[in-house]
Amino acid sequence: MSVVRTERHDDILVIISDNPPVNALSAAVRQGLEAGIKEGVADDSIAAMVIRCDGKTFFAGADISEFGKPMQEPILPILVDMIEAAGKPVVAAVHGTALGGGCEVALASHYRIAVPSAKFGTPEVKLGILPGAGGTQRLPRVAGVELALEMTAKGTMIPANRARDAGLIDRLAGEDSLEKDAIAFAREISGIRPVPKSSEKPLTHDPAVFEQFRKANARRFRGYEAPEANIACVEKATQTPYEEGVQFERMQFMKLIMGVQSAAQRHIFFAERKASKIDDVPADIKLRPIKRVGVIGAGTMGGGITMNFLSAGIPVTIVEMQQEALDRGTAIMRKNYEATAAKGRITAEQVEQAMGLLKPTLDMNDLAECDLIIEAVYENMDVKKEVFGKLDKIAKPGAILASNTSFLDVNEIAASTSRPEDVLGMHFFSPANVMKLLEVVRGDKTAGDVLATVMALAKKIRKVAVVAGVCHGFIGNRMLEPRQVEAMKLLMEGATPEQIDKVHVDFGMPMGPFQMSDLAGVDIGWHRDPNRIENIRDALCAEERWGQKKKAGWYDYDDKRNPSPSPRVAEIIEEFRKKSGAAQHEVTTEEIIERTLYPMVNEGARILEEGKAQRASDIDVVWIYGYGWPPYRGGPMFWADTEGLKKIVAGLEKHGFKISALLKEKAEKGERFT
Ligand code: 3HC
Repeated sequence: MSVVRTERHDDILVIISDNPPVNALSAAVRQGLEAGIKEGVADDSIAAMVIRCDGKTFFAGADISEFGKPMQEPILPILVDMIEAAGKPVVAAVHGTALGGGCEVALASHYRIAVPSAKFGTPEVKLGILPGAGGTQRLPRVAGVELALEMTAKGTMIPANRARDAGLIDRLAGEDSLEKDAIAFAREISGIRPVPKSSEKPLTHDPAVFEQFRKANARRFRGYEAPEANIACVEKATQTPYEEGVQFERMQFMKLIMGVQSAAQRHIFFAERKASKIDDVPADIKLRPIKRVGVIGAGTMGGGITMNFLSAGIPVTIVEMQQEALDRGTAIMRKNYEATAAKGRITAEQVEQAMGLLKPTLDMNDLAECDLIIEAVYENMDVKKEVFGKLDKIAKPGAILASNTSFLDVNEIAASTSRPEDVLGMHFFSPANVMKLLEVVRGDKTAGDVLATVMALAKKIRKVAVVAGVCHGFIGNRMLEPRQVEAMKLLMEGATPEQIDKVHVDFGMPMGPFQMSDLAGVDIGWHRDPNRIENIRDALCAEERWGQKKKAGWYDYDDKRNPSPSPRVAEIIEEFRKKSGAAQHEVTTEEIIERTLYPMVNEGARILEEGKAQRASDIDVVWIYGYGWPPYRGGPMFWADTEGLKKIVAGLEKHGFKISALLKEKAEKGERFT
């Protein structure tokens, strides 16, 4: 059966797409739409047409899985032009999300009606491309230049009421009567001539808008190619006739889609979705119901973790040892919510709703009512074991017991209970209410349904979750370690912290290893004995150069936390260089990349070799969402593939690293990780 069918309602032809899960505009859908429009045009008894979708959403865009393959006709730009040129009114009836090519179908239609819950967006920029079916030219004409910039260059999605205010939709339908209302609307406007065309709408704008927009978003767009291409296309729409603008858009689209950045960003799109899948657990396994969550510890981590659940409408019992700590933790959560409300992102009512779901307590026995209990206490094996021993006695049968550890052995923690099958790790990243990544650590005995339940719950609290095996530092922190070790060695051989950080920032990271250390705290994991100075870091810590919090770390900081290179740190480094007698040389950018980034790839390969990650793309997801690896480079494993694994191996060999067998094998065979 065709994925597109037509239904006649007297003089109105309804063209319906049914291509689950998201009505992507695949070749079959495009062919079906073309046939539907032709049918409506050819039939004199048809006065107007409606395009709508079955299932959960209007077209979510072009079918991304078709990119990079030969395109089948009709291609989307031709199809949307055909819709606009129909000569009879076409009404797009939107529910769910009209995204990318879906939004372009709506824009090419002569009228748009949507349910109040519908959303509109052109998120192509997030895939490293731009709306390539006239979207950059029609959208500013219909919704104005400013909104078009916001939607195309930033990928902002807008709700139906905003779309109506902007003129992007003509009418709101009833939430449950879209088809009926769309047919009535189509009948109402069926006689209007000429049929209004988005491409012919006059375009007014303030030319200063573009420079302002570029300037305001320079930081956000740093390193990316697609945002500027989107801006340039919208700008072109204001400068040239529609046809020329479309040609310009086409050229820009082709350039982007052939480029490495778009390939990287598309890789991440699919990698993120793949990450939620567990290879050896059936997709339909029965999940354990999670109606109430328990959190032990109301510190920064515990509080952040708790907020994720409250925001998702899941009640939380939070336990602390002292009333003061409990009150402080609760007050910080409230303050965070209120700050979000002050920015207009949530309402005062939502603040109360979330806080109303919180049950603070000093009594650990209250955790007996929880279906999932997450421990966020001090990162120490003995402390964790004691907590889990207690939990084992308190938690109800079937409750999931999770440790928010960032490197400890989850098997050992699980062994301190009589139910290791119910135990796993949930490694949140700080600030836990903001950071998207969650490493779900699967112990040797963790039951399949426990793992699947937590992975599904992660989606509910809007995290991107990745399954990791038990090993020191799991996926993310384990790969961070060789990078830090090499960065320290480079200092001894002649590099400066500023130089190494700059290479990482120029690469696209939000910060370099030393800036990161200053932010996290140079003293994290320090032995706290100022007289025991074995390395440069000990020396910094002994002088209380603990990072940003002390206004001194690897850098000096002013009152606004602006960093500047520290003469004192330079002295300390020099002292250590002299003492060690290490040979000095001029360290190049290339060497910094080869010695700090290549070893991460090497470690990633070992993680795969040992089965601690399910797939290479999971490693990329960890680094994109947990550590700010630039999405336009696709994550460390995708990046290694684009660099060429032979080159990575040669670089590692040059510097005397022991190379992972898997990496070597793939390089020799000319294979890729992703
Ligand atoms: N093409 C192909 N597959 C798609 C797709 C698309 N445009 N959008 C989603 N899918 C797939 C996903 O890969 C996933 O597959 P899986 O089940 O095998 O893992 C499945 O559909 C469901 O997707 P989600 O898990 O993301 O479902 P959600 O309900 O969470 O989200 C959504 C739905 C908001 C529509 C989200 O999928 C999304 O944002 N999709 C991408 C939208 C987009 O970027 N559109 C622009 C495409 S490019 C374009 O249109 C170019 C044109 O201008 C020429």
